[in-house]
Amino acid sequence: MKYLKEKYVLSNGVEIPKIGFGTWQIPKGNDAYKATLNALNVGYIHIDTAFAYDNEFDVGRALKDSGLKRENVFITSKLPSHIKDYNGAIKHMDETIKNLSLDYVDLYLIHAPWPWNEIGKDCKEGNLEVWKAIIEYYEKGYFRAIGVSNFNKDDIKYIVDGTGFMPHVNQIKYHIGFDQSETIKYCNENNILVEAYSPLGTGKILNDREIINMANKYNVTPAQLCIKFCIDNNTLPLPKTVNKNRMIENANVDFKISESDLEILNKIQRS
Ligand code: A2P
Repeated sequence: MKYLKEKYVLSNGVEIPKIGFGTWQIPKGNDAYKATLNALNVGYIHIDTAFAYDNEFDVGRALKDSGLKRENVFITSKLPSHIKDYNGAIKHMDETIKNLSLDYVDLYLIHAPWPWNEIGKDCKEGNLEVWKAIIEYYEKGYFRAIGVSNFNKDDIKYIVDGTGFMPHVNQIKYHIGFDQSETIKYCNENNILVEAYSPLGTGKILNDREIINMANKYNVTPAQLCIKFCIDNNTLPLPKTVNKNRMIENANVDFKISESDLEILNKIQRS
């Protein structure tokens, strides 16, 4: 399970474990607490949460009860997508830090360029405003790295033009069959690490015949192939599961997809 400990290096020198544990859609309370604690016990040292997931408190509790040293675990959280003003950003950043019971968060992201109930709305000015607040907290040491999520090239360019500050990370939906080559190309050119959420296509691509055939060829499960696909494309997968055996399965990806097979997988289109 070497990829739980192996790290990417962000453009500011901060190291980030190559597989993170995703907590999206894990209900708050005992479910999120138990899943996070299990993940930490299994060996995950990178946990991805968000204010909007409503489970930051449980992630914080699990981290505390795991007995792991704070500096040995990497925690990400996010500013809710509808918060597009400076004061709102400050309020939510403070709340996240409090919810998690932490002195600092390792990575903090703008959750989306638009509110989830108004996808595509032009919020460029609002994004710039909250990006400035996030930079302020980064410079004060509350965050070790900062970035965005669900941003395309133009969304990123706007906040960089307005501040001169390039995000360290862009977290996007990315899995076999879901083409993100344009955004990934831009991020690679600008030294922005791409994180992949829904690397298993929220479970929907695991029955895909082409994926099953390729997984069989490597003697791995479809989930393992999907996760390694992200890593071999230099992105950071954030698989989610509440099942401890699957947590182990998803981390057991110490195999290499050949270049020609990766090319085949990169060409699959499913949405
Ligand atoms: P569960 O939490 O019941 O294990 P994604 O990470 O793309 O969002 O996918 C998450 C979905 O995939 C969840 O429904 C999760 O279910 C399921 N899942 C996670 N890991 C595996 C696995 N190794 N095999 C099959 N399904 C999995």
